[in-house]
Amino acid sequence: MTNQHLKNKNVLIIGGSTGMGRATAIAAYELGANVTLTSREHDKAVTAAAAIGAEVKGYALDINSEQAVLAFFETHSSIDHIYIAAGSTKLSAVTEGILEDQMKAFNERILGSLRVVRATANKINPSGSITFTGGVSTDRPIAGAWVSGLGTASAEQLARVLVMELPHIRFNAVAPGYTDTPMWDAILGENKTVILASVAERLPVKKIATPEEVASAVIFLMCNASVTGEVVHVDGGLRLI
Ligand SMILES: NC(=O)c1ccc[n+]([C@@H]2O[C@H](COP(=O)([O-])OP(=O)(O)OC[C@H]3O[C@@H](n4cnc5c(N)ncnc54)[C@H](OP(=O)(O)O)[C@@H]3O)[C@@H](O)[C@H]2O)c1
Repeated sequence: MTNQHLKNKNVLIIGGSTGMGRATAIAAYELGANVTLTSREHDKAVTAAAAIGAEVKGYALDINSEQAVLAFFETHSSIDHIYIAAGSTKLSAVTEGILEDQMKAFNERILGSLRVVRATANKINPSGSITFTGGVSTDRPIAGAWVSGLGTASAEQLARVLVMELPHIRFNAVAPGYTDTPMWDAILGENKTVILASVAERLPVKKIATPEEVASAVIFLMCNASVTGEVVHVDGGLRLI
């Protein structure tokens, strides 16, 4: 693998306005890829893209909408690599609330990913790839985050089952542990720094992952043409403690 692998390749980041998606867009751009990123909001997508580079394109796309996904890919073909970072987290007790509401975050991640796969099955170039986002809650589930655990496990399993369905595409997943992104600002608010610091103290690596570290794993999965059906963990050793 060399840094030339992404030069002039068409890389699409779904959920590329912030966090690990944005970091992957930057990394791919720096390696010479033609990068397109999406956000649910048009202006946010355009602003995020322009902040990376004038050639980077930004579009609105909500993967909750099958119609929107199909319409988007009608005008976007010849894709080499897709990274799906899009997703949100729903914290709730399994015995309370309305199940259909709680499962929205699961459906967003899994049905949303499947919509993208269906729409692009014939549009990915040879040696191309789709990378999903799993997570450490597959192996280290935590109370209140059961929807996330189901979602990350399913995203990782998607990478395996789809290899058998569509072997001309490489499917993989990155499985981040605690990573300092705007997702945690939304969940923890002003307590974020203190809580993430206490998590870091428990980790073998004594630090929270950066979005750039997750991005570097995604870039590896895009570039290595022999890696498929794989899950790469970027969790600071959390699964071992
Ligand atoms: N941070 C962590 O510690 C961690 C750990 C394990 C797994 N994860 C997972 O990793 C993924 C990326 O998270 P992050 O931490 O980088 O969070 P983030 O900064 O909140 O990024 C989420 C991205 O997804 C986009 N998005 C959300 N819902 C979408 C939808 N329905 N359709 C299209 N795009 C959508 C957001 O775009 P707009 O808001 O601009 O629309 C944003 O670009 C998520 O699936 C998250 O659950 C995160």
